[in-house]
Amino acid sequence: MHVISQYQEFFIAYLNSQAIIKEPKNLYEPIDYILGLGGKRMRPVLTLMTAEVFNTDYKKALPAAMAVEVFHNFSLVHDDIMDDAPLRRGSETVHEKWNLNTGILSGDAMLILAYQYFEQYEPNVFRDLAKLFSKTAIEVCEGQQWDVDFETREDVTISEYLKMIEYKTAVLVAAAMKMGAIIAETSEENANLIYEFGLNLGLAFQLQDDYLDAFGDPETFGKQVGGDIIENKKTYLYLKAVAFSKKEEVEQLMHLFSVHPNDNSEKISSVKEIFNISGASKATQEAIQAYTFKAFDTLKKMDISEDKKAMLSAFGEKLMGRKV
Ligand code: IPE
Ligand code: IPE
Ligand code: MG
Ligand code: MG
Ligand code: MG
Repeated sequence: MHVISQYQEFFIAYLNSQAIIKEPKNLYEPIDYILGLGGKRMRPVLTLMTAEVFNTDYKKALPAAMAVEVFHNFSLVHDDIMDDAPLRRGSETVHEKWNLNTGILSGDAMLILAYQYFEQYEPNVFRDLAKLFSKTAIEVCEGQQWDVDFETREDVTISEYLKMIEYKTAVLVAAAMKMGAIIAETSEENANLIYEFGLNLGLAFQLQDDYLDAFGDPETFGKQVGGDIIENKKTYLYLKAVAFSKKEEVEQLMHLFSVHPNDNSEKISSVKEIFNISGASKATQEAIQAYTFKAFDTLKKMDISEDKKAMLSAFGEKLMGRKV
């Protein structure tokens, strides 16, 4: 086994060894740009780490880790179009730097490119990876559509929200880990348990993403702070604020989440204040912890050594403390 920062380095070295840019440049340069902007590389790290958790050299998992990261970056390029986001990882989003059509087509090419990385595996492993990947990718699309549908709905429930984030985010984290298990050819039980671990970690991760979107530090967050409030996203923060507030604040909040003012600064500060005084911020922090601990419970059931369990828990703990 290695430490997280080593897996990051192994992955980045592999990424840099791939020749991305070809003709036509206008298709491939945006792909190279977004992949080169960095990010935490959480999903590929999980794929490599999981392969080693199940006693297989991380090198065998590099193409799958690449597939997961390319798919993730594809989803970000299209997500930024859908969310009208100006900033990604502290730089301009692809559709801002180039244009909308570039974002659409380079994104499409990335989705195909991701699939191609599975061709490096032998038929049985290839089949299992491709099957999991297809299921996951379609779920991500379903989650993304719900996310957009909820922008203009006033009756979104907490359970609908949880399903939405499971699909748009958690399933990919879970699949990233299960791919490591598939490559290691471990037992089906282990593969399913690591999927469940990743799913709960992924739910905690998206809850925290929502929290940071409102309360992150604009200097370091890398995305537009308040972006979800501008777009009227029905996040956990919003839903809990509605549940916890008195009639007057609920009406104010619902009104704020039905408008698109030209200047959003007042809307953002009013909403954040309600998130805080209503107890929604605190409830979100508690939910992040609860899902992380739920992931740790799954670990207990797994047939792996204690030091490996400790590594996976450390990963979850580290995610909870993240600021970006
Ligand atoms: C952003 O994912 C999209 C979500 C699912 C919240 P990350 O926060 O992992 O983005 P990078 O890759 O580190 O930039
Ligand atoms: C992202 O959700 C989910 C996917 C990209 C599939 P968000 O829209 O919250 O992600 P960020 O905050 O833009 O990274
Ligand atoms: Mg977004
Ligand atoms: Mg989005
Ligand atoms: Mg977000």
